[in-house]
Amino acid sequence: MQRHPLFTAMSLGLFAGAATTTALADMSPLEQQLKDLESFQVIAHRGASGHAPESTMAAYELAHEWNVDYLELDAQITADGEVVVFHDDAIDRTSNGEGKINDFTLEELKALDTGTWFNEANADKADADFAGAQILTLDELFERFGHNARYYIETKSPQLNPGLEEALVKTLEEHDMVESGRVLVQSFEQESLLKVQELNDDIPLIQLVWYYPSEEDESRLVEWTGVTPGPAEINDEDFQAVAEYASGIGTNYIYEGQEVIDANFIRQANENGLPVHVYTVNEADEMERLMEMGANGLFTNYPDRLLKLVE
Ligand code: G3P
Ligand code: CA
Repeated sequence: MQRHPLFTAMSLGLFAGAATTTALADMSPLEQQLKDLESFQVIAHRGASGHAPESTMAAYELAHEWNVDYLELDAQITADGEVVVFHDDAIDRTSNGEGKINDFTLEELKALDTGTWFNEANADKADADFAGAQILTLDELFERFGHNARYYIETKSPQLNPGLEEALVKTLEEHDMVESGRVLVQSFEQESLLKVQELNDDIPLIQLVWYYPSEEDESRLVEWTGVTPGPAEINDEDFQAVAEYASGIGTNYIYEGQEVIDANFIRQANENGLPVHVYTVNEADEMERLMEMGANGLFTNYPDRLLKLVE
């Protein structure tokens, strides 16, 4: 079972003194990764996707160059079982193809151009080098950055991607990403996280949640996956239930202009051993506000803006 004892210790003010110094020196890379989650984390959402086509090598190169804490990515599986880095269920928005990503083999997907759409949509950021960008496999990303980066990997749409968890864990193990403290696996689907844990219980997991107004009563917020009640009703036991298997929570902060979490949500999650990473925050003033609220990390398409605030 993956817990977050160091974070809990820090939250409870138990983390001080000479004994601590010795303990830090003896940490395994995986323990060090969990310890690092006590600090604020800059998470490059689909790479530096405000500056380069999302989920392409160009977007990850830029984020890595800026020395972010994590490269965020969405993992999906091709018709022939390869793990690829791609967000949408369909290839239409970010490529010159049409259809569902899982219906294509890797060879077919590799023939697509996943960069030109960005140049057409962002004339001010267009770069001829983006044109013709190929869909990335997870293997390729790992081969490029290896253990010099950390990866925040989402099991995207698990029902549409049967076999994803098995293929993902196999890839993580082949590249020695787990024991080396290089990876977090995130998902909106608790079942998917538990499957990953069953395959390798050392992998730190992040439970994603999404709060929005209930259709029956718009004044009441509910959670999309059902893993927690709405923020107004959430209690220590709810957070502890998540902390039983996860090392943190990833949450939205706003729904159609309405704030859905506050400083109390973050404080209570922290007191129950769960750092809170907020998605997806692109404006500097919002980044500042969430940092003041105590957020433990932000997913952003503009890591350069966030890094300026953190430094
Ligand atoms: O993974 C955190 C955040 O990326 C979730 O939303 O839709 O961008 O994958 P999405
Ligand atoms: Ca994601």
